[in-house]
Parts: sequence; structure tokens; C-alpha cells
Amino acid sequence: MTAVPTYLVTGGAGFIGSNFVLAQVARGTRIVNLDALTYAGNLANLASIAADPGHTFVHGDITDAGLVASLLATHQPDAIVHFAAESHVDRSIQDASAFVRTNVLGTHVLLDAATRYWRGLPAARAAAFRFVHISTDEVYGSLGPADPPFDASSPYAPNSPYAASKAASDHFVRAYHRTHGLPAVTTHCSNNYGPLQLPEKLVPLMILNALRRLPLPVYGDGLNIRDWLHVEDHCAAIELVTRHGRPGAVYTIGGGAEVTNLDLVQRLADLVDGCATDDGPPRRSLVTFVGDRPGHDRRYAIDDSALRSELGWRPRESLETGLRSTVRWYLDHAPWVDTVSSGEYRLWIESNYAWRR
Ligand code: NAD
Ligand code: DAU
Repeated sequence: MTAVPTYLVTGGAGFIGSNFVLAQVARGTRIVNLDALTYAGNLANLASIAADPGHTFVHGDITDAGLVASLLATHQPDAIVHFAAESHVDRSIQDASAFVRTNVLGTHVLLDAATRYWRGLPAARAAAFRFVHISTDEVYGSLGPADPPFDASSPYAPNSPYAASKAASDHFVRAYHRTHGLPAVTTHCSNNYGPLQLPEKLVPLMILNALRRLPLPVYGDGLNIRDWLHVEDHCAAIELVTRHGRPGAVYTIGGGAEVTNLDLVQRLADLVDGCATDDGPPRRSLVTFVGDRPGHDRRYAIDDSALRSELGWRPRESLETGLRSTVRWYLDHAPWVDTVSSGEYRLWIESNYAWRR
């Protein structure tokens, strides 16, 4: 890698991408940020670095092969860190077309352009180059209560259209490494939470509904288990993988924090009770069981020992400290919450929850 590395980041205006970009710009990395600004992309996430010369924002689509090739030729990055995706399972159940387009076709466009670019690099730079593909634990399907956690050798069994599209993209990444030698690395992380997450996902939705004393809609019996990781710990893992990951390697990343959805929602309700100043019954009483997600995976769990032993990664936040600071962040960022809680977002909430009541 060059002394001051340059990364082409895709999807860097979304939740995890913007957290990654902010952390990288703070440490001096040059970032070229390609994002289509779909409903999930938000320039307000990047407001603090809008004038920073280390950050170049490009409003464009990863399926645009000409644009991707020209960005690689112009900026000569040391790595591509690929976050851009349609990421919400419930939306993929309503309509999966955008998931196929961005997650499968878009990843293929990036792989093709990256391979051409990488082949033209001088030997030392080519050896250090990485294509980092941000995938998900959901490609491995659902675990039973006594099953061992997922690791890089777990068989693929995607159950949602979202997971199927990510699985397809993973197979293309693997094939481009095996066939063309592209130095690609794939990560599979568990559920992220933290600042800048759109409140269509469980944690911020529950914080904001609890604050407003709205129902807390828990799907099914609420006993589905997820493993939660603070987004900044995920971003630290991605940084290590980008700099030191072995070409062709697959890393699973987790928080070691398995909880049921019901337990998590109750903890969030209690944390909001602890911060809010209004009087009223405990917000746990707002929990409302609603119609389940079709094909709802029962349990995810991650074995991240390879990442820990090989790259020395350790999460800094426990679930307790991470949830506490996340609740505080949402309470302290009302203007940001307002920018993401109108228009398309309201339509989505209506279409996702109306039929579940
Ligand atoms: P997000 O939905 O918050 O953000 C996605 C970003 O990609 C948005 O900024 C959007 O504008 C952009 N984008 C979408 N389509 C695009 C296109 N065609 N061209 C360019 N940009 C486009 O997603 P997230 O939660 O930040 O997830 C980022 C990545 O991490 C995804 O690949 C997701 O599968 C993976 N992941 C997410 C989690 C999680 O808990 N959120 C966990 C593991 C892995
Ligand atoms: O596991 C990694 C995945 O985590 C990522 O690949 C996805 O991009 C990310 O969206 C997330 O997927 P989930 O489906 O697990 O996240 P979500 O926040 O949508 O839901 C978490 C759990 O909470 C899930 O079991 C469904 C449940 N849920 C969700 C919502 C929005 C509810 O019970 N009620 C809700 O209103």
C-alpha cells in the first residue's frame, strides 16, 4: 500500500459505509466515495467532511461500468471497499429486483473493472491491492439452538431474497479470485448497530418509537436470535482486512452478543426510560407482537476466532456500552433523525407494518 492509501469506497453514504468513511478520513486515508444516494444513502451522514480534501464524493451507480473504470483510472486506489447494496430483508420480500441489480449485477461490474485495473498496476502495487467485499452472515441461513456458530467454512443456505442476492455476489467474488487471481477478500458480519443507521432497521426504529411512546413492533414470538456488533468495531475489522487480509480469504465477524429480539427491544425501552424526562408507564409495555417476517431466520451466531488470531481484532464495545451510547446518539441528533424520517420513509413504514397488525 502507498504511504497515504486511497480507497474507492462504494455505498459510503449509507450506514456502515459512512461510519467507515468518517473513520478513514479522520486517520488520513484518501477516500473516493461512490454512492447512488438511494433511499438509504444520506449526504447528511458526511456533512462533517464535506469540505475535507481527503474525501471525494461521486454521485453515481456501481452498475455504470464506464464511471467505475474512469474512477479507477483517475484515482488509482490501493483498495476497493465494497459496501453498496440493497440491505433490508423486508424490502427484498416486497420486491427483490433492485437487490438483483445492485447486489449481483453491480458487484459483477465492480469485479470486472477491478480486474482490468489491477492487471495494469506495477507489481508491488498489484500485490498490495485488495478488493474487499462486505457480505453478511445471512448467506449461511438459520441456526438451531444447539448448532455451532457460522464460520468461513459454513455451507451457504440463503433464505431471503436479500441473502440470496448477497450469496450470488459472494460467488462472483470467489470466482474472480480463483479464475482471474483478483486479490479479493470477503467478510461476513453479524447485525450492526450504532450512529447513522436508518430507522427502518430494528435498533433505531425501537429507540425512536420508544421515545415517541409508539408501539414497539416485534415480529412473531420475538425469540429470534441475532448477534449484535457496534458499527465502529465492524469498521475497525474492515480496516484490518483491507490492509492485511489474505487474498482469497473469507472472514466472519461477530459481536459475541447473541440476544433474542424481545430481550433487545426491552433493553432499548429501558435505556430510553433512563434518558427521557417524561412521566408514564415503563416503555416495555409498548412491546406489540405483530405478523412475522416470511422465512424469518431463527438464529445467527458467529465464530470470529480466525479474525482475532490472524489479524488481532477485538471489539471495543460490549452490547451494554454500545446500546447505551447508541440510544444517547439518537436522542442527541434530532435534526438528523428529522432528515431521515419523512417522505419515502413514512411510505415504507406504512407498507411494512399495515398488514402485520
Ligand atoms: P445501507 O442500506 O445503509 O447503505 C447502502 C448504501 O449503498 C446507500 O448509501 C445507498 O445509496 C448505496 N447504494 C445502493 N445501491 C447503489 C448502487 N447501485 N450504486 C451505488 N450505491 C448504491 O446498508 P448498510 O447497512 O450500511 O450495509 C452496507 C453493507 O454491509 C451491505 O453490503 C450489507 O449487505 C452489509 N452488511 C450490513 C450489515 C448490517 O447490519 N447493516 C451487517 C453485515 C453486512
Ligand atoms: O445479520 C446481518 C444483517 O443484519 C445484514 O446483512 C442486513 O443488511 C441488516 O439489515 C440486518 O438484517 P436483519 O434482518 O437481521 O435486521 P433488521 O434490523 O431488519 O431485523 C433484526 C431482527 O429484528 C430480525 O429478526 C427481524 C426483527 N424485527 C425487525 C424489525 C424492523 C422486528 O422484530 N421488528 C421490526 O420492526
